[in-house]
Amino acid sequence: MSETSSVVGIIGGTGLTTLSGLDITGARTVETPWGSPSSELVEGSFDGQSVVFLSRHGNPHRIPPHQVNYRANIKALYDAGVRTVIGVNAVGGIHRDMGPACVVIPEQIIDYTWGRAGTFFEGDLEQVTHIDFTWPYDQGARSILMQAATAHDVPFAGFGVYGATQGPRLETAAEIRRMERDGCDLVGMTGMPEAALAAELGMRYVCLGLVVNWAAGKSDHIITMAEIEAAIEQGMSGVRQILETSMADLGVLTALAQPS
Ligand code: HPA
Repeated sequence: MSETSSVVGIIGGTGLTTLSGLDITGARTVETPWGSPSSELVEGSFDGQSVVFLSRHGNPHRIPPHQVNYRANIKALYDAGVRTVIGVNAVGGIHRDMGPACVVIPEQIIDYTWGRAGTFFEGDLEQVTHIDFTWPYDQGARSILMQAATAHDVPFAGFGVYGATQGPRLETAAEIRRMERDGCDLVGMTGMPEAALAAELGMRYVCLGLVVNWAAGKSDHIITMAEIEAAIEQGMSGVRQILETSMADLGVLTALAQPS
């Protein structure tokens, strides 16, 4: 298992390609055995807490969800000492309490993606490994994010099942109805395999979702980029407040024994 470290990693998604408030100490371009991560690693501190920031789609935003090198991203963060990862994700809202600009801290995942490199355990293996993935999101980290949202009166839903779709197109209304029947409350394109890869390396992982549109068929209009951009504009300050407020507590959590 990994040695103890208290570095927190943030993977910024759509709408969060840089992190203001981070006291930057360096930026490094790194390579991994799995290839290049999406962006350089920006290292710094938030109120004294060591943080590494990575932009999932590159900076500027140029890598679509199905072409993100999730393995390189997670391995690069791991090699930089990160042991807790906050995955910031733009998502569509399916549940009635998850309208645009609402923050969501989900508890479960259903994976509908396909063809993505989704494991470190392949190739020339000495043994086959099946990680436990019953609870994909770290409960302690979820609690810390929810406390921060409460402290700042940021509207949030502290529950939900994240349905991870392939993209880059959005879904049909029928696909969303099927996902709803499956039990999905929110839909996004980047939640997997990121969460599973973090679990394979024994890292804590938590999703901080920002709803940027009603999922297909959940409103009386089609989904437009203008609506998505407006929701990002409205909701991202809450996401930033949550990140800033929770960093010290996440550092303490991270320094505890690793989850597996
Ligand atoms: N579907 C999938 N991914 C998304 C959506 C959506 O409606 N909105 C933001 N990311």
